[in-house]
Amino acid sequence: MKLLEGKTAIITGGSRGIGKGIVEVFAKHGANVAFTYNSSSEAANALADELSETGIKAKAYKSDASNYEQSQDLASEVLKDFGSIDILINNAGITKDNLLMRISEEDFDKVIEVNLKSVFNMTKAVQRTMLKQRKGSIINMSSVVGVKGNAGQTNYAASKAGIIGFTKSVALELGSRDIRCNAIAPGFIETEMTGKLDEATVQSWREAIPLKRGGSPEDIANACVFLGSDLSSYITGQVMNVDGGMLT
Ligand SMILES: NC(=O)c1ccc[n+]([C@@H]2O[C@H](COP(=O)([O-])OP(=O)(O)OC[C@H]3O[C@@H](n4cnc5c(N)ncnc54)[C@H](OP(=O)(O)O)[C@@H]3O)[C@@H](O)[C@H]2O)c1
Repeated sequence: MKLLEGKTAIITGGSRGIGKGIVEVFAKHGANVAFTYNSSSEAANALADELSETGIKAKAYKSDASNYEQSQDLASEVLKDFGSIDILINNAGITKDNLLMRISEEDFDKVIEVNLKSVFNMTKAVQRTMLKQRKGSIINMSSVVGVKGNAGQTNYAASKAGIIGFTKSVALELGSRDIRCNAIAPGFIETEMTGKLDEATVQSWREAIPLKRGGSPEDIANACVFLGSDLSSYITGQVMNVDGGMLT
């Protein structure tokens, strides 16, 4: 019996990077995966087709996680297509880095909307289904930056710290219905988001990490498997740092 067999997971931002890693690893562990993208329709549909051939159900949906209506519609469609929603992973996220002196109001608002409001939108959208099922696991992608702060990322850090407060509150509200809610705080994970940075900077970051490497999408996906599966059935309201020891 695979760890996630028979469970349906919604994963936002599954077309690239960490989200794609989660989609692939979840499928490997037997989950049926419904995942979203914002603009990468070709990559998302190719991934869904590839995974469907492995015997699980996989489908890509174009849905803007920062849009309330689209999030409600997505949850209804997934329920219709898959029959249940057992795990929600709020992974979609963006950066628009700048020093406070230079950051625009627009860039502050955009990051809060895509990273934080999306978590509210999607959690609201699946809540009714999980309440009826009297079971569910919600996993929110925060960041070490949300735990510690980071110069040049006031908007991003605020969104990721906000996710932690939201996660703990949902855990307190919904625990009595066996709906668990946890956050993951990845450290430096090497994806397209970090591929924009120069190699010398990236190397200095790797050297500063106790495990001496950047993380991979699979490292985060494996933590999601644990939090999504019944192995973690007594864990809620927690923030799990998956950072190679960066914050230690
Ligand atoms: N990489 C790191 O080191 C790191 C560290 C800590 C936390 N994180 C967090 O981990 C998550 C994933 O990061 P990543 O590095 O994998 O990013 P990424 O490679 O840039 O991928 C972002 C994903 O989110 C999707 N997305 C963006 N805006 C969206 C929206 N409005 N609605 C729905 N989907 C949207 C993208 O879809 P399209 O392909 O269609 O654009 C893509 O699938 C983010 O929340 C990020 O903050 C990353």
